Amino acid sequence: DKGNHRHFMAKEIYEQPVVVAQTLRSYLRRMENQVALPDMDFDLAGVRRITIVACGTSYYAGLIAKYWFETFARVPVDIDVASEFRYRDPVLEPGGLALFISQSGETADTLAALRHARAERQIIAVVVNVPTSSMAREADLLLPTHAGPEIGVASTKAFTCQLAVLAALAANLARVKGRLSPEEEAEIVYHLSEAPAAMNDALSHDEEIEAMAHLIAPARDVLYLGRGQDYPMALEGALKLKEISYIHAEGYAAGEMKHGPIALIDDAVPVIVIAPSGPLFEKTVSNMQEVQARGGKVVLISDAEGIAAAGDGCMATIEMPRVHPLIVPLVYAVPVQLLAYHVAVAKGTDVDQPRNLAKSVTVE
Ligand code: M6R
Repeated sequence: DKGNHRHFMAKEIYEQPVVVAQTLRSYLRRMENQVALPDMDFDLAGVRRITIVACGTSYYAGLIAKYWFETFARVPVDIDVASEFRYRDPVLEPGGLALFISQSGETADTLAALRHARAERQIIAVVVNVPTSSMAREADLLLPTHAGPEIGVASTKAFTCQLAVLAALAANLARVKGRLSPEEEAEIVYHLSEAPAAMNDALSHDEEIEAMAHLIAPARDVLYLGRGQDYPMALEGALKLKEISYIHAEGYAAGEMKHGPIALIDDAVPVIVIAPSGPLFEKTVSNMQEVQARGGKVVLISDAEGIAAAGDGCMATIEMPRVHPLIVPLVYAVPVQLLAYHVAVAKGTDVDQPRNLAKSVTVE
């Protein structure tokens, strides 16, 4: 049932504040100002390295989590797409934590990678949306997302719920590693609890984003740029756009532009820049200006301060609420998803069932 929406994807984008809140409820103890994980029969404090494996959008959630595990807990993270992990004979020290992220819990490559990691004596943690799935059954530590069934082939609400779980896991790991004071943990709990309201604010820009879809729909190529944890969001934006609108799109680390892709820039290649204000803002903006100096048409996604500082000269801007860096990916996912959605609707493609794709890839 699509409710009032034309497509499952739209319904699922709109469900995010509710399902993220639902997911957070099982990972936050608001009263104690603490994050909480299910019981586990291994020592989380003893984890010295994390190996993350996933595919597609779930892999991008993993890339964002890598920033969090490394910044908050100072635990090194290795990350691969599942189809590569299996065949590169990765070096896995027995007792390491292998973390698999999957909406369906049935993706063939991810499941095979999980079994490989098990054979290599890794502790198996899974972030999964389908609680009865193969991955859920084979995990030592099951970290469910509570997104509810996701029908649209393009993953939306499962992604933001994965981020919510991964943020809680990062904070928990940081605490057991002695890297998070009770005050810092309380701050994280506070900001995570604010995410659903901030996502609602992001959703309120829907009509504006719909109105700018015609700027992107005629393009043959679109670039997405971001830095730091906003770089995986650029990858996710590009994946979302290409899979449902069939427009060729690439995500790039903003600083990599001048190492090649800037050669593509002309006024027919829209560039979506994801740049919340913060320590990396100036750097990303200077990459954005390099694009503009070559006639590139930019859509800037930032907060009021960022747009005031750098919005002039952009083809369009999308204003997000100013939020703590930890919840930036949860909030900025919304305009990125809405933009892909409206461009696809403008082009008349089959949004929920894009050509050549299956919801769950159960073959290698
Ligand atoms: O069910 P999974 O999370 O394991 O699926 C992984 C990918 O197949 C999936 O995220 C895919 O990339 C989506 N269609 C992206 O929107």
